[in-house]
Amino acid sequence: MVTPEARSTTAAGGLELGGCEAGALVARYGTPLYVFDEGLIREKCRAYRAAFESRYPQVDVAYAGKAFLCLAMARLVAEEGLHLDVASAGELHTAVTAGVPPARLVMHGNNKSPVELAMALDSGVGRIVVDNLPELGLLGGLVARRPGRRPQEILIRVAPGVDPHTHRRIRTGQGDTKFGLSLAAGQAMEAVLQAVGTPHLLFTGLHAHVGSNLRDARAQVQALETILDFAVQVREETGLTLENLNLGGGLGIRYLPRDEIMPLEDFAEAITTALLEGLARRHLPLPRLMLEPGRAIVGEAGVTLYSVGTVKEVPIDEPPGTRLYAAIDGGMSDNPRPQLYDAAYTAFLANRLGEPADTEVRVAGKHCETDILIQSVALPRPRAGDILAVPSTGAYTYSMASNYNRFPRPAAVFVGNGQARLVVRRETLDDIIRQDVLAPAES
Ligand SMILES: Cc1ncc(COP(=O)(O)O)c(C=O)c1O
Repeated sequence: MVTPEARSTTAAGGLELGGCEAGALVARYGTPLYVFDEGLIREKCRAYRAAFESRYPQVDVAYAGKAFLCLAMARLVAEEGLHLDVASAGELHTAVTAGVPPARLVMHGNNKSPVELAMALDSGVGRIVVDNLPELGLLGGLVARRPGRRPQEILIRVAPGVDPHTHRRIRTGQGDTKFGLSLAAGQAMEAVLQAVGTPHLLFTGLHAHVGSNLRDARAQVQALETILDFAVQVREETGLTLENLNLGGGLGIRYLPRDEIMPLEDFAEAITTALLEGLARRHLPLPRLMLEPGRAIVGEAGVTLYSVGTVKEVPIDEPPGTRLYAAIDGGMSDNPRPQLYDAAYTAFLANRLGEPADTEVRVAGKHCETDILIQSVALPRPRAGDILAVPSTGAYTYSMASNYNRFPRPAAVFVGNGQARLVVRRETLDDIIRQDVLAPAES
């Protein structure tokens, strides 16, 4: 078990991850390596469900697959009784192949293609979250062309116009956004009326996701009020009350020792209290509450292990002196978050846990970019061959990985009870050229 400030050790003094020794995992699977504590993921799934189910009568928790998805992960969340949010043909294919019951799938996307929508219909996806008016027309037509098919249940994604005070690139609930339909400008009502008038679509509720890595429930509570006001208007215009209210994901995790995130129980309390009171005030019946946590389920359960390679002193002017750079055998291809969002991480040397962290180090990737993974971290003076462990790397790392510089993507393992199992194999150099074609031009 590893947190930004704590780590447990094996009897031999090595870093312990799910009862396995980090050095042994590295010897077996190589680096970079994504290591997931399976027990912790399961604990987070159960805690999320329990926090909301103990406070509100009807709750569906859907894991947001974009945070980290592979067959084993999809199966795990289904075993834990969660639903699964998929946002592309690839995520949908993964979920269906893993055997997740299609009725438990929620399909997202701001630009779903006709092929993706047809795939969702043919796979029997339980709910489709419609993002825009053209999609509504397209979907209605696709269902109509499947005679005898049951009407497709849909939710309408609204943009509640809320600023969640998180990094600008992970805000989604404000007015000026590519996601959803504006409440303020009347687009959301237009979509509801169109949906209600489409015979093959079953409009059952609303969806809003205000942003990611939120420290507290303020933005969701604010969005909730706006959405409930809208629910009153929907009742007035159509006579319908919401069966489902999906508040998306968003609860943050701790990346650094200084990070303060509202505890899950308080988060659930704030949201369910606001919801129950808001409904009562407006004389609305209780909808099913749907949630879509991604990062909060898998982020803290993941640790990435790298091998340290080049270590060098670089002269600098400000302040005058030198800076110690340690380069690892990965970087922005396995974790683009520092480049995308200025994401900050801490790290430690898994093979030298007992030694004082007395040296300030800048951790660099090995790509042809200035891909700094960590601007500054205190470590024992690193040497080539050391194992660098980076906690809280379970979410939006593997799922955002690329083959930049033709790097094979790393392996991922689940660990628990002293056992490790490979859930994503490491790509090989042959995988890198597998899709390349050397052929004469086709006429
Ligand atoms: C629609 C939707 N639901 C859920 C999530 C998951 O968010 P998080 O990982 O912050 O919980 C996202 C993230 O972007 C999202 O866009």
